[in-house]
Amino acid sequence: MQYGYFDDNAREYVITRPDTPYPWINYLGSEDFYGLFSNTSGGYCFYRDARLLRLTRYRYNNVPTDAGGRYFYIRDGGDVWTPSWMPMKSTLDRYECRHGMGYSRISSARKGLAFSQTSFVPLKDNCEIHKIVLTNESKTDKDVELFSFIEFCLWNANDDMTNFQRNFSIGEVEVEANGARIYHKTEYRERRNHYALWAVNVPVAGFDTDRQTFLGLYNGFDHPDTVFAGKANNSVASGWAPIGSHHIKARLKPGESKALVFVLGYCENPDDKKWEKPGVINKAPANALLDKYGSPEAADKALAALKDYWDALLGRFSVDAEDKRMARMAGVWNQYQCMVTFNMSRSASYFESGIGRGMGFRDSNQDLLGFVHLVPERARARILDIAATQFPDGSAYHQYQPLTKRGNNEVGSGFNDDPLWLICGVAAYIKETGDFGILDEKVPFDNKEELAESLFVHLKRSFDYTVKHTGPHGLPLIGRADWNDCLNLNCFSKTPGESFQTTANFESGVAESVLIAAIFVFTGPDYVEICRRTKREEEAAYAAKAIAAMTETIKQHGWDGNWFLRAYDAYGHKIGSHECEDGQIFIESNGFAVMAEIGLDDGRAKKALDSVKDKLDTKYGIVLQQPAYKEYHLELGEVSSYPPGYKENGGIFCHNNPWVTIAETKLGRGTRAFETYTKICPAYREDDSDLRRLEPYVYAQMVAGKDAPRFGEAKNSWLTGTAAWTFVSISQYILGVRPVFDGLLIDPCIPSSMKSFSVIRHFQNAVYRITVDNSAGVEKGVKSLTLDGKPLNGAVLLALGDGKTHEVKVVMG
Ligand code: GLC
Ligand code: GLC
Repeated sequence: MQYGYFDDNAREYVITRPDTPYPWINYLGSEDFYGLFSNTSGGYCFYRDARLLRLTRYRYNNVPTDAGGRYFYIRDGGDVWTPSWMPMKSTLDRYECRHGMGYSRISSARKGLAFSQTSFVPLKDNCEIHKIVLTNESKTDKDVELFSFIEFCLWNANDDMTNFQRNFSIGEVEVEANGARIYHKTEYRERRNHYALWAVNVPVAGFDTDRQTFLGLYNGFDHPDTVFAGKANNSVASGWAPIGSHHIKARLKPGESKALVFVLGYCENPDDKKWEKPGVINKAPANALLDKYGSPEAADKALAALKDYWDALLGRFSVDAEDKRMARMAGVWNQYQCMVTFNMSRSASYFESGIGRGMGFRDSNQDLLGFVHLVPERARARILDIAATQFPDGSAYHQYQPLTKRGNNEVGSGFNDDPLWLICGVAAYIKETGDFGILDEKVPFDNKEELAESLFVHLKRSFDYTVKHTGPHGLPLIGRADWNDCLNLNCFSKTPGESFQTTANFESGVAESVLIAAIFVFTGPDYVEICRRTKREEEAAYAAKAIAAMTETIKQHGWDGNWFLRAYDAYGHKIGSHECEDGQIFIESNGFAVMAEIGLDDGRAKKALDSVKDKLDTKYGIVLQQPAYKEYHLELGEVSSYPPGYKENGGIFCHNNPWVTIAETKLGRGTRAFETYTKICPAYREDDSDLRRLEPYVYAQMVAGKDAPRFGEAKNSWLTGTAAWTFVSISQYILGVRPVFDGLLIDPCIPSSMKSFSVIRHFQNAVYRITVDNSAGVEKGVKSLTLDGKPLNGAVLLALGDGKTHEVKVVMG
């Protein structure tokens, strides 16, 4: 069943009923201030750090699901209802939620009263705007009352939900303009210099800031006594739970509308300007915000500017094709998700609580592949931040904190795939921008300025780290884990609750990873090319030799006969071999080895991918391994801790599916490549939403595998490396518009049934309008290519950088 549809012209997903199988959310914000916003107005917002500076409270894993948000209650005569459906689950005569690029709009109606709420974070300002329009669609006058409601979080989200002995005594607010402006200032009297603001641009009839007073004792959000009574209490919170609620009255004639603007903002003052007078906070920054967004016209203007921003961004890569699902995902939603991973990393979603993970070294480098063409300057800055958390020996802090940009000691280092992802990310950046100058940037090691070296030296340390840390078969040592965080071969954990990833009590010095070897062979050639192009011939020769040697090692010790092995454990036993009882074949090493073109020459590549199809493929995507582990293996770690079919134990872990897609294009099998692409692509499962459950417009990290009772059900949408890799697979390898060191390579690999498509690609200050004609019905091969009408030799468009638009005609055959 479908719960909505794509409105491609508006770049919106339109949800047509509120009771989606899970909250379907959107992200508001593009720089420092962010909001998570569900289709029933649930969610929360924060400034820069979802853990430390959270403005509004949200209860994860609560009942009912998705409790807490920016709620509006309507009292129309005696009729009380919530126009976003939740929290009262009101019966609505009309409902629609449009999630667009950085904004959402909920429109609904009941008994002749229409409501619309447009929510967004304006560019450059630290606030959410909620523009509300009430319209009397009935034939008689209406006396309408609107109650707003938000609940403040006491800033540190972790402390907020645990430390009640303190928190119930510290909540403080201030109220101005008879209650139209509510300020949350908990801890402002001591070490904070920031407060939150919840204000409306019209006079109010009353207000509340104390939760219990507003709701009534033992009530939930679905039954606020105050709204039913039709009268605010003007309560001023003192401790307990500070909230913000306005009571607004409006008389509407038939056909008349009234627009209101609510601002939910974050304000900061310099330490010496904190107070207006003793005990009264300095409102200057709040006043500035409210002056700016004081009218519906001002809100509309800010929304228009936000739309222009997204038009420009997404204009950098767009697709037109007969297959609308592919076109809208590749051209719009997949890139949108990539920007969200850029902004959020793995911090805040409806599956990541915002109090856990920082920025991952490997995750952030991979995310970069998906947004480097959108925001190259910001990608550059991100690369330098990431590289600064590398250790002098080339290994890296596995995570760093976005606020401090320092490596996170609690998680530490020793994930031996990490260093290689830096090469991968930097190479992607240079191919996109041609900016070899980044290699000369001085970047600290371990965040210590005195250890700074050029970024090139960082890449060399990354490369050498893999060369120097090999095991008995000459394959890279795995350390705590490789890309698969759950393959913990040196961990041997028996203690409940112990972290599989940071426990290393059996440092074998033996456990090896075929995947790291394949990543080395995949990304190593970029390092060689970087060396050559910067005249480091000797280094290039050394690196090329190391890659050739590693390729041989994989062929010798990483091949199982019909597919690539996955690893060797701490006893030197094979993982991912037909000799194993469970875990005989894994997706990652097979996808990556073929991506690295290992075995293209001798048939192994084809054999490996055929085995993947035969043993791992399902109708919802390719599972991570088979057979799934039936019991816990001390020597394997977390991978065997999950029930069969979930997560890394035989789930469809979507992140690695595009590796197989790309690998298939290396074999020229366009039909199969596209099949693996569509199987995990959410837009193709839109009408299967009851089973899939999550948003049809974004990828999820995992879809339950065939061993799981809930085969086909998705979890963990939005913050996943799947976004970047699927974008790489569709844009660069299937549609085949791929940045290389010389320019833009045109090398499509598509299903024979796809007869044409076109792409508009901005690349290094020029625009290429590329149309591909496949009336020949092939899967791969460019027969001819013209640039502005002139035939080109080869398939690389050199970076013209002339600020002009160029016509590129490609004929396959
Ligand atoms: C999660 C992690 C990522 C890891 C993957 C596989 O997505 O964020 O770093 O590679 O799981 O375990
Ligand atoms: C768990 C998850 C894995 C994730 C890791 C992050 O191991 O299974 O996907 O990468 O946690 O720490």
